[in-house]
Amino acid sequence: MTVHIGAEKGEIAETVLLPGDPYRAKWAAETFLKDVRLVNEVRGMLGFTGTWNGHPVTIQGSGMGMPSLSIYVNELIRDYGAKTLIRIGSCGGMQEKVKIRDVILAMTATTLSTPSRGIFKEVNFAPCADWSLLQAAANAAASRDLAPHVGGIYSSDVFYDERPDLNEQMVRHGILGVEMEAAELYTLAARYDCRALAVLTVSDHLQTGEALPSDQRERSFGDMVEIALEAAFA
Ligand code: HPA
Repeated sequence: MTVHIGAEKGEIAETVLLPGDPYRAKWAAETFLKDVRLVNEVRGMLGFTGTWNGHPVTIQGSGMGMPSLSIYVNELIRDYGAKTLIRIGSCGGMQEKVKIRDVILAMTATTLSTPSRGIFKEVNFAPCADWSLLQAAANAAASRDLAPHVGGIYSSDVFYDERPDLNEQMVRHGILGVEMEAAELYTLAARYDCRALAVLTVSDHLQTGEALPSDQRERSFGDMVEIALEAAFA
């Protein structure tokens, strides 16, 4: 047990999928894994361990935003020995070519502020995905005709943003989408020599104002889980 995770040592797999929403963790585990058991319910941040094609996998909610994800990922890596961590989540589209429902594989995650900022100070560290996971996820997405966008995303600290000028700079610099977790995941993976990737579905669009209806979110979420699982064990 750790401060935020109730699992015993050995109950967490080396491969962990991280949706922000704990109920998405439950749905994904019950839908895609076998021999599923609940391993964490501290603060309602559900985590499940089961197997996929015989491989042990944990699906653990991360909560929203980098400070929350940072707590879970620190404990998963440092206390439970997680080695491959894949965020599955949603993002806001930032380019015209990026459409609602599209899949984005985040090669890099630009950020203004992460829990790591106090460490890097004047240095702008460049959080990036693990190449082997990125390549395998691109193949897995292509094999489902999903034509993923691969490139940079922006990990913001705020959903209700009072600084539209920052988003404008991101758009100008080719950033594909905005979410709130990947940069800290990539930074921790770099620090502890783990593999990390963020697989994202575009759920809303900053330019057009469109949003994915809730009944269609489940299907795109399922695609992401399958891409993440295939990539983890490619
Ligand atoms: N902003 C930040 N995070 C998000 C968004 C957004 O528009 N959409 C999904 N996650």
